[in-house]
Amino acid sequence: VTSAVVERGIERCGGLLYRAVETVEASCGALFMVDAEGAISVLAHTNDAHGDLLALMEQAAARTAEANRPVRMEYPSSTATGRAGSIRVCLGTPVFVDSEMVGALVVTDPASPGMSAGVVMDRVTSVLALLGLSVERLRMIDALEQRESEIGTLRQQLDVYAMDFRSTYRAERDRSQELSSALAELEKTYRATVRGLAIAVEAKDECTGGHLQRVTRYGMMLTELVAPEHTGDPQFEYGFLLHDVGKLTVPDAVLRKPGALCDEEWELIRAHPISGFSILDGIPFLAGAREIVYCHHERWDGTGYPQGLAGDQIPLGAQIFPLCDAFDAMTSDRPYRKALSIEDALAEVRHGAGSQFWPTAVEAFLSIPVATLESVLAESHGGLQ
Ligand SMILES: [Fe+2]
Ligand SMILES: [Fe+2]
Repeated sequence: VTSAVVERGIERCGGLLYRAVETVEASCGALFMVDAEGAISVLAHTNDAHGDLLALMEQAAARTAEANRPVRMEYPSSTATGRAGSIRVCLGTPVFVDSEMVGALVVTDPASPGMSAGVVMDRVTSVLALLGLSVERLRMIDALEQRESEIGTLRQQLDVYAMDFRSTYRAERDRSQELSSALAELEKTYRATVRGLAIAVEAKDECTGGHLQRVTRYGMMLTELVAPEHTGDPQFEYGFLLHDVGKLTVPDAVLRKPGALCDEEWELIRAHPISGFSILDGIPFLAGAREIVYCHHERWDGTGYPQGLAGDQIPLGAQIFPLCDAFDAMTSDRPYRKALSIEDALAEVRHGAGSQFWPTAVEAFLSIPVATLESVLAESHGGLQ
């Protein structure tokens, strides 16, 4: 639609241009549009106005736009632009609409060579008025098209941004999926490592069938009750599972000795929390578990080992754990005695509140239904798999 309108506008300008050229009996004529920034572009010209001649006329138009009034320019004629030996005269006349210059009409070599640009303007006044309207219209269309193309460019840029954004988002999403699956893989590796270590401990200490699995269950249950913020904390779970990892360094002859132990042998046994602490040294993912391993033989009243810590000096996991360890030892058969009943073992646990065990943990442990404790005891006699 626009281009048809433009074509008609330019045609009309061409017609008016010929009228002006005839009116002053000029040799050639051209009409230029002047945009809001003062840039010049040719709208129409007579048939023989082209090449160097059109370039000269464009110069005259630019001069007219700059001066904002009629301008007369003379160029020494070259063979290319005019009759040999003569002077080429260009007369530029502004085309106004409401005193704004929208175009420039340039004619060359009028019939009377001395004619001034002002005279040209006077003689073509009515043509200039009509040209003004036509040029103004073309200028508006031009501005509109420019806006449209600007909007088109903006839209294209937006499309590019949107595409960039989508591909960045997709890449980030893929990356985070990769990361989380790598993390899950790592977590699995950690678990397998801890399990492997725990199985080694269990194999070493033959009489503990299922002990590690059960104390870990009790420990996690109790943690949920007295330290809910650590519910499911893998450091607690790993610490409970690995509490006796230090026993790996105690000779079998001592660990499995049926009779009473001498002082030296006791020293070896009592060193297992320290050995466990060293075994887990330099394993960042077991840093929290290592604290529990180190302190799992501390007592609430400060008479435990290896450091003799008391009460809140003992790391939280190791405040929770000892009564689980003791309860399971009491409810398991040992070579030298039969297992206690759950009720008797609970009575012993109650008895240890404040001396061996953290009173709050004792109270919480006693609140666990006996049926729950029975089911833990029943399900895990096979040991770790
Ligand atoms: Fe131990
Ligand atoms: Fe134990």
